[in-house]
Amino acid sequence: MSQHRSLIDDHINAWVKALPKGGLYAPMAYLMGLPAKRVRPALVLMGCELFGGRAEAALDEALGIELFHNFTLMHDDIMDAAPLRRGQPTVHEKWDVNTAILSGDAMLVMAYQLMARRPEVSALFGRYALEVCEGQQLDMEFEQRDDVDAEAYRGMIRLKTAVLLACSLRVGAAIAGASAADSERIGAFGEHIGLAFQLRDDLLDVFGDPARTGKQQGGDLRAGKKTILLIRGLELSALNGRSELREELAKPADQRDVTRMLNALRALGIREEAERAVQEEEVKATNALDAVAVAEDRKMPLRELTAGLMTRSY
Ligand code: IPE
Ligand code: IPE
Ligand code: MG
Ligand code: MG
Ligand code: MG
Repeated sequence: MSQHRSLIDDHINAWVKALPKGGLYAPMAYLMGLPAKRVRPALVLMGCELFGGRAEAALDEALGIELFHNFTLMHDDIMDAAPLRRGQPTVHEKWDVNTAILSGDAMLVMAYQLMARRPEVSALFGRYALEVCEGQQLDMEFEQRDDVDAEAYRGMIRLKTAVLLACSLRVGAAIAGASAADSERIGAFGEHIGLAFQLRDDLLDVFGDPARTGKQQGGDLRAGKKTILLIRGLELSALNGRSELREELAKPADQRDVTRMLNALRALGIREEAERAVQEEEVKATNALDAVAVAEDRKMPLRELTAGLMTRSY
């Protein structure tokens, strides 16, 4: 893991250093240079090694996936009106919205350039990248809808987040020459850890320590995002005759009392329920990894990464 981390960091640092100065490249260098978990590039390398490939052979694609991820963050922060990312001002706050749009577009182009070395990688990436956009569209539409249930939420987070983790593993597997069946199996594992990852992200938005997450606390509540916490909070409020969440959501976003919403969720036991949902996905992920037909010792890095993600605080 730490060996993967230094391979990834060296590759990213070299890429950042080689960027032209200023203009649309400065925001890329800024965002890519802020401290981040680098989960997706680690999954590319682990997916490659799981099926007998060398991590070094997958470094460009690992960088390509991380670039794509950072492109989605740059645009996501505009869509979510987020002031902070990785503990620092977001690109649209530090520069302006137009710069964040264009610099993000350019990152997407550069990601494609890195993913184009192999046709099978390019095909996987194209398919999953489009699904991420579909998920982001649903995420925005759901803000305006009041009929979003847990199943619709799950479909949305599968697209906006889980598929990119699956994609990372499958890209690594493709570079190692894994069979189609193995690629499907490792993709299923990726989707389950991805679902757990977004459930945890939604929990951290409300109950996390902003000094750790590097993001504004309660940003999803303020925006009226239909996270599992808010969906279940509204359902249980209706059953229990509580109205705080509805009242706050009826106000314009910038006038919502986020602390009042947070306290209502806490009182309804929503935190514990969401924690259980994370654990359920972990079990499903573990079962999916069990089904991959390679020696158990090859799976260790993925098992360790899964365990670490389940209890992450940022
Ligand atoms: C944030 O991704 C966006 C989500 C899909 C939840 P990460 O939590 O991986 O963010 P970084 O890259 O480590 O900053
Ligand atoms: C992010 O979801 C999904 C993508 C960027 C594709 P969020 O909007 O919850 O991510 P954060 O919390 O801003 O990192
Ligand atoms: Mg966001
Ligand atoms: Mg978002
Ligand atoms: Mg979030």
